[in-house]
Amino acid sequence: MKPMKPSFQKDGADKVDGGTGGVLWPSRICYLVVLATTLWAVASILFPPSAFPHPLVSSVTVSHHPAPHDSASEDNRTATETADRCAGRYIYVYRLPPRFNDDIARGCRTLRPWMDMCPYMPNCGLGRLLGDEGGVFPGRGWYATDQFMLDVIFRCRMRRYECLTGDPARAAAVFVPAYASLDGGRYLWNSTATRDALALDLVAWLARRPEWRATGGRDHFLVAGRTAWDFLRKTDGDDDWGTKLLSIPAVRNMTALVLEIDPWTRSNNLAVPYPTNFHPATAADLRAWQEKARALDRRWLFSFAGAARPGSNKTVRAQIFQQCGASSRCGMFRCKKGSECEASPGAMMRLFESSTFCLQPRGDTTTRRSTFDAVVAGCIPVFFHPDSAYTQYADHIPADPERWSVLIMHTDVTDRNVSIEEALAKIPPAAVKAMREEVIRLIPRLVYADARSARADFKDAFDIALDVVLDRVAKRRRRDVDGR
Ligand SMILES: *[C@@H]1O[C@H](CO)[C@@H](O)[C@H](O)[C@H]1NC(C)=O
Ligand SMILES: *[C@@H]1O[C@H](CO)[C@@H](O)[C@H](O)[C@H]1NC(C)=O
Ligand SMILES: *[C@@H]1O[C@H](CO)[C@@H](O)[C@H](O)[C@H]1NC(C)=O
Ligand SMILES: *[C@@H]1O[C@H](CO)[C@@H](O)[C@H](O)[C@H]1NC(C)=O
Ligand SMILES: *[C@@H]1O[C@H](CO)[C@@H](O)[C@H](O)[C@H]1NC(C)=O
Repeated sequence: MKPMKPSFQKDGADKVDGGTGGVLWPSRICYLVVLATTLWAVASILFPPSAFPHPLVSSVTVSHHPAPHDSASEDNRTATETADRCAGRYIYVYRLPPRFNDDIARGCRTLRPWMDMCPYMPNCGLGRLLGDEGGVFPGRGWYATDQFMLDVIFRCRMRRYECLTGDPARAAAVFVPAYASLDGGRYLWNSTATRDALALDLVAWLARRPEWRATGGRDHFLVAGRTAWDFLRKTDGDDDWGTKLLSIPAVRNMTALVLEIDPWTRSNNLAVPYPTNFHPATAADLRAWQEKARALDRRWLFSFAGAARPGSNKTVRAQIFQQCGASSRCGMFRCKKGSECEASPGAMMRLFESSTFCLQPRGDTTTRRSTFDAVVAGCIPVFFHPDSAYTQYADHIPADPERWSVLIMHTDVTDRNVSIEEALAKIPPAAVKAMREEVIRLIPRLVYADARSARADFKDAFDIALDVVLDRVAKRRRRDVDGR
């Protein structure tokens, strides 16, 4: 549906921050990630896995309490509040008119032209609770979650955020709880004027707030839980795809959390994990699943769940269907459409839970929810393009891609007839085991805890995203004060 950008340079696979390091990566965050990864590595040697179920907790917490600015401070709160565990982390949440959120949720029957989204709204956007399905979803925390429900999940979770403030002057960042992607998603096939109406209404509403005028919205953030491609329309022609949400100047001033960024015009957008079916409410529930995932019997070397795409059979996807179909070591869950795969979480997860490697070719865009389902299942993801994860979720994943995933360049499969099976079978069993362990440790960082839980005592995808937002905003404030 979307044209692919020119292929990322090959060494992008090894360099998570790609060629845009200076722009994207504040050096301190970069340092923290390196530090965190090092500590993680050291810790994983010192502590047996069961005693160390969520790595990074201790190390990344550092960013919760940013060091006092060494440049002349823009405010003198920092000094007086160092004892406050919320210092630098207070968030003010707007109370928006319901047309920007609750009214949209109430219209769940018409959020997508071909399907009723109401079954996906309950439980704070997690959807209905799933049954055990013959051991596929053991223990607690499994839901039939739609991949585009992050607006709802995130807002709900924010209500339980431990450092909310009613005083905007005290806030380190301001959250705009609009359902931006539910709104955009419902009108994708209507006129461009219809698609953009509510987003323009929102920025007009914001522009009138004193909180906005204080910084031009540069400390504001919002969630638009689809890929950036749905919000980057260039023209006003009705046959151009998407809304122009992310091109609106006011929104460009904010930080927008999306499921996939455009690595070429990243602006202030931040890519965060797709929601999966797993939403543990406590670290104990999480750990119980991690133990199970370690012990699963994985009868398939590799597997693929997805739909065929019309057109050329020279694509990686077509090759996967061909190679997987011809191999006795490949499991396949073939859907007629992507939505059919999503509607069968049990069948899909059963496959991933019994596979060592899970193939993740590009689809409409470079990323897929399936990558996150695979990680939850303890299945090592196999990518065919660095933009499918490494250049997207740098804050959530290990800096070294080889520790937890495999990259087979798509051109090797399509142009050089590389056998996926041979490439995977070549990896020594000890290396496979180490990678799987890394994948299983990654689970907490890539899932969204049950947003209703007051006891989500582990650092999840939400916590990590918020740390990044707070870091970025603090950095901008300092830059603004320093006159850049
Ligand atoms: C520090 O706070 C005091 C009062 O709390 C205020 O008058 C002063 O302007 C602040 N200084 C700076 C540099 O913001
Ligand atoms: C969007 O398009 C659908 C289908 O054509 C139509 O039923 C609906 O009324 C349109 N919505 C708006 C707000 O124009
Ligand atoms: C964006 O931020 C800049 C710098 O603070 C400000 O001058 C501008 O007015 C802001 N844009 C909007 C639309 O508020
Ligand atoms: C696909 O491959 C087959 C042979 O492998 C070929 O006959 C066919 O023309 C190709 N193209 C399409 C679009 O099927
Ligand atoms: C590709 O590889 C397969 C198996 O290794 C082989 O059977 C086939 O002939 C090769 N195709 C081409 C076009 O080289």
